[in-house]
Amino acid sequence: MAEAKVWPQAKRLQWWQEARFGMFIHWGLYAQVGRHEWVMNRERIPREEYEKLADAWKPKPRPAREWAALAREAGMKYMVMTTKHHEGFCLWDTRQTDYNAAKRGPGRDLVREYVEACREFGLKVGFYYSLMDWHHPDGARCAYDEKARRRFCDFTTGCVRELMTHYGKIDILWYDVSWPLRSAEAWDSRRRNAMVRRLQPHILINNRSQLDEDFGTPEEHIKEAEAGRAWEACMTFNGSWGYMPSAVDWRSVREVIGMLRQCAAGCGNLLLNVGPAPDGSLPPEAAERLVPVGRWLRANGEAVYGRTDRAVGRMEWMPCGQFTIKGRNLYYWVRCWPGKELAMGGLKTKVTRASYLVGGKAIALEQKGGRLVLKGLPRSSPDATAGVTVIKLRCRSKPRQELGAGCVVLKKK
Ligand code: GLC
Repeated sequence: MAEAKVWPQAKRLQWWQEARFGMFIHWGLYAQVGRHEWVMNRERIPREEYEKLADAWKPKPRPAREWAALAREAGMKYMVMTTKHHEGFCLWDTRQTDYNAAKRGPGRDLVREYVEACREFGLKVGFYYSLMDWHHPDGARCAYDEKARRRFCDFTTGCVRELMTHYGKIDILWYDVSWPLRSAEAWDSRRRNAMVRRLQPHILINNRSQLDEDFGTPEEHIKEAEAGRAWEACMTFNGSWGYMPSAVDWRSVREVIGMLRQCAAGCGNLLLNVGPAPDGSLPPEAAERLVPVGRWLRANGEAVYGRTDRAVGRMEWMPCGQFTIKGRNLYYWVRCWPGKELAMGGLKTKVTRASYLVGGKAIALEQKGGRLVLKGLPRSSPDATAGVTVIKLRCRSKPRQELGAGCVVLKKK
């Protein structure tokens, strides 16, 4: 591939920050065991025993098309798939090790199928790559044996180079777990990532190679990272990243919508995981939830996608719901429908128009004495999909709210 000039960070991040929502796919040998992707380590499965899974693995043809179709229907704009998880099995046709999908059971390049499926369904392509490797003979030894460290760094660079050169344009490189080496220097991360950027000038790299790079990755919690820094919360759907049929506590449609709100409010992204079964099919629970999420997003996407803004000061929690902001528009995501009237205190800006985001019908409003009251609402939430109705409040200036804990706002002496 021709080498081009590395894009400036703000330009690289643009599509991603507008995309908001992506699908994480954890797929590997561990799916056959069905007890989490850490099963090799957690159950101390001997390497020779675990390796047998490599020959036994026979996924059906092109399951990635099903993932990509569902991701698109769910309103996701990109995907990130595990090309190699901690178990060390490479899902692509690599020259760095025989422990790979083309040479073992599957007999084909699963990464290629994934990339083709993303492109077919109009999704941006992300590669997850675990630095930690439980299978490679130097994967642990590199911590105390300098020659092993060099070999392992070469192996890592070789893998990453292949991933960056064999599949056309790659949008995201998502590193994971940098055990057992303790610094970017030991991992040779600067040099490797510079190579990645030369090969893929527009690529986004996450912060897990012991360098900050482009974005932070809060895991299993949605916490607004520092303002000004891009971030993406990665979340499991049911508590396990890898396929685990006994993990039955799936997040509901409303929870997923709530996570999207939190991310959008903090100008962050949501990378929601699904762990396909060994044959590649998705657990039905995923579609049962993601199809309605997509329906909801098609109607309410304006409150989610595109550049959002952080509140000036902060928007307070309200008993009936919470907010996202874009410029002078305040989107009130009402999760607990109050009935005929919806009131809100402490808004420091004048609301010039209130309307339902879906359909755009105006809502009567009254604003006085620090209280905004929306009137003439239906008895129950108009949103039939998830009971989350978004009300758009057009404000005269950037929305700001101040309530404090008392019933009057304290004045400075
Ligand atoms: C953790 C886990 C890993 C998972 C990752 C996703 O680092 O070790 O199994 O892939 O989180 O963020």
